[in-house]
Amino acid sequence: MQDTIQVLDKKFVKYITASQIHDAISKVAEQINEDYKNDNPVILITLNGAVFFAVDLLKQLRIPCRITCVKLSSYSGMQSTNRVQNLIGLTEDLKGQRVLVIEDIIDTGRTYSHIAEILRDTGMRDMRIATLTYKPEAYKLDLPIHYVGLSIPNKFIVGYGLDYDGYGRNYSDIYQVIE
Ligand code: IMP
Ligand code: MG
Repeated sequence: MQDTIQVLDKKFVKYITASQIHDAISKVAEQINEDYKNDNPVILITLNGAVFFAVDLLKQLRIPCRITCVKLSSYSGMQSTNRVQNLIGLTEDLKGQRVLVIEDIIDTGRTYSHIAEILRDTGMRDMRIATLTYKPEAYKLDLPIHYVGLSIPNKFIVGYGLDYDGYGRNYSDIYQVIE
């Protein structure tokens, strides 16, 4: 099995295995199934990174739900930038709906705060967020994070949807950069 990979100019080492990811997702799915058992939430997937997590999570949800997507971008290379761009906006009418946002990673929280802003005036009933990975040391917001798959140190990772300049998403495991 391959334990280190090269993505563009960086080397990465295997850090979270596919089976650990799967277990973390099952736990999050159980909580969501319980918390939303009386509702039909709209699942809001943030493209591109959260697609892998969203697909595996959704297959374990037993609640009636719809899905919709937005595409935002805040990262350039390995740095979060202050500017979050709205590349594909909201298309769904969210009035009166419970919205569950699906994220691949919450780092500084800038993207999350941008999503909260986009949703604020939609007339939705409430918003929660589920993220596969979370970097507590980097997080700068007061907004609560409702469902966390894995808390990780403040180091750059790729795989399972997460990218370095567009590459590295296609691995089943998650890899951490070697400094
Ligand atoms: P935030 O806006 O700073 O919370 O960053 C969130 C976005 O930055 C994520 O949706 C990712 O696209 C990207 N990001 C943050 N940390 C990493 C990482 O370690 N690897 C890959 N992408 C990351
Ligand atoms: Mg990215």
